[in-house]
Amino acid sequence: MKALVYHGPGKRSWEEKPKPAIKDATDAIVRIEKTTICGTDLHIMKGDVPTVTDGRILGHEGVGVVEEVGSAVSSFKKGDRVLISCITSCGKCEACKKGMYSHCSNGGGWILGHLIDGTQAEYVRTPFADNSLYLVPKGVDEDALVMLSDILPTGFECGVLNGAVKPGDTVAIIGAGPVGLAALLTAQFYSPAELIMVDLDANRLEVAKQFGATKLVNSGDGKAVEKVMALTGGKGVDVAIEAVGIPATFDTCQDIVAAGGHIANIGVHGKAVSLKLEKLWAHNITITTRLVDTVTTPMLLKNVVSGRLSPRKLITHEFKLDDVMKAYDTFGNAAKERALKVIIRKA
Ligand SMILES: NC(=O)c1ccc[n+]([C@@H]2O[C@H](COP(=O)([O-])OP(=O)(O)OC[C@H]3O[C@@H](n4cnc5c(N)ncnc54)[C@H](O)[C@@H]3O)[C@@H](O)[C@H]2O)c1
Ligand SMILES: [Zn+2]
Ligand SMILES: [Zn+2]
Repeated sequence: MKALVYHGPGKRSWEEKPKPAIKDATDAIVRIEKTTICGTDLHIMKGDVPTVTDGRILGHEGVGVVEEVGSAVSSFKKGDRVLISCITSCGKCEACKKGMYSHCSNGGGWILGHLIDGTQAEYVRTPFADNSLYLVPKGVDEDALVMLSDILPTGFECGVLNGAVKPGDTVAIIGAGPVGLAALLTAQFYSPAELIMVDLDANRLEVAKQFGATKLVNSGDGKAVEKVMALTGGKGVDVAIEAVGIPATFDTCQDIVAAGGHIANIGVHGKAVSLKLEKLWAHNITITTRLVDTVTTPMLLKNVVSGRLSPRKLITHEFKLDDVMKAYDTFGNAAKERALKVIIRKA
């Protein structure tokens, strides 16, 4: 089969690889129909994720058709159309029983396109299929569903749920990338009064407005804090969602959170951030962190089926699977190409 293979920092190719086979009784083999590229794949390409080794097939998102199942798989059969979760989970260990699928201690967690071969290929082996795949409802927009493999649950679980967004809240989301926009879409389940979107990129802010942001803050002038405080009458925000992953934007969250508020971190941080306890100790703040569990995928799926959630809006570019190398070039130049998510289809 053909697959997108990582060969060390800056090196990737679309090449011939052996078709995967069932290894464990709980595995399924899925024929990929649609996949996409994540910001995390770009981090891998830069060499930021050293646990990804030379020869690894990338990709942790996708929709496909079950080709074969192991003897212990009871919920899926050959021919079923399935959504592949970016998080693999046994469903049985202590972490899984707590809903912390990303901390599955039986060899689950984020492994696809990381520790084992991923979805940017014609076929993928999905371990713990019963708990890690979701049946695609008939008639649903499958392109849109690909956004449920990772982006939507990430924005919702790490940002909106951990941030405890409530009706009437003033919410600021720092970072209008796919993850920040996913938080913006799903925060609206809770009817917050204001959704303030902060980014440096005027195009992404414009997109955020179409997605339901009530106020836009361009932080290119370094004045994000002053602008958010002015927009909130000096009070700050009830929930500050960090969706960038750098010290400056976490600092912004610490400076704009109102007393009693939440800071919900989503961003993957590579550098230490200083905690402003000298100010926050008396502010009754809750700070949360989380690796996405995709435990809300069934709920998000229902909302896509009913039309309450339209993740298709996130798709800006389309490619054929054979052109996945071109898709990387486009997604890697997201600002210039005005790209949010690309959809990569088999045919
Ligand atoms: N916690 C998790 O489980 C999890 C899962 C997936 C992704 N992530 C992380 O979420 C973050 C967002 O992901 P993404 O794919 O949307 O990333 P992205 O790079 O596409 O988007 C980041 C956005 O932040 C903006 N930005 C950069 N610097 C800024 C600044 N100083 N002020 C304001 N805006 C700024 C950029 O213009 C861009 O629009 C990343 O750190 C990613 O690694 C976390
Ligand atoms: Zn991802
Ligand atoms: Zn487990």
